[in-house]
Amino acid sequence: MAERSAPVGVMDSGVGGLSVLAEIQRLLPNETLLYVADCGHVPYGEKSPGYIRERCRHIAAFFHEQGAKAMVLACNTATVAAVTDLRALYPVWPLVGMEPAVKPAAAATRSGVVGVLATTGTLQSAKFAALLDRFASDVQVITQPCPGLVELIETGDLASPALRQMLLGYVQPLLAAGCDTLILGCTHYPFLRPLLAGMVPADVAVIDTGAAVARQLHRLLGASDLLAEGPARDTRFWTSADPQSLRNILPVLWHKADDVQSFPL
Ligand code: DGL
Repeated sequence: MAERSAPVGVMDSGVGGLSVLAEIQRLLPNETLLYVADCGHVPYGEKSPGYIRERCRHIAAFFHEQGAKAMVLACNTATVAAVTDLRALYPVWPLVGMEPAVKPAAAATRSGVVGVLATTGTLQSAKFAALLDRFASDVQVITQPCPGLVELIETGDLASPALRQMLLGYVQPLLAAGCDTLILGCTHYPFLRPLLAGMVPADVAVIDTGAAVARQLHRLLGASDLLAEGPARDTRFWTSADPQSLRNILPVLWHKADDVQSFPL
């Protein structure tokens, strides 16, 4: 039986999951957090589901060894590829995955046209098709895969002309098609909100699921009587690429440069 003071493991293919980590820390400030950025294997969005499942198994085993009481897949692409597999491997471990916010978007749209920005892997998955069948039968959903975007976000330069240009190319067709609601279906994309604010009219809603993931983690920990009483210990980071790169990016995408170690491959 895990202890309440045990940490929560959070993972992503890279720095995108930091957008979710921030929501978790906001809602659950007493929780000690571990973060694995699989930057040596980013982007997941262009890899096969089998490859991603292997990476996720490896990272889940690591969190288990670290004594994590729960795991969060802070990655839409990893969730569609691996959450079912991980749940079968760890049936009693609280495990939170995430999916593009199709349900709230379908409820919110007034034009009846919703745009989804996500990775190729997420948009091609059977789980995403099932999500559309379940919640979006009454609205038109236009999907936009965004190859290249994650790699540019991983550089930590969120104001580069190349990034602005690429994002505009992905967003403009959705706006031209009448979307009044845009779903950010990849955890890297919330970092583009400042750029998007200059591209998208004010009456277009831009939504992501970071806060919903934090609420789900809260529910699962509460149901297992595992909510920490605090105080939280410092967040620890691991990366499967060069730790110095993550150390350089953390002050931009996270509030401070915490402890960063090499992820054992
Ligand atoms: N951040 C990830 C997601 O939410 C995946 C990005 C990638 O590695 O392609 O989908």
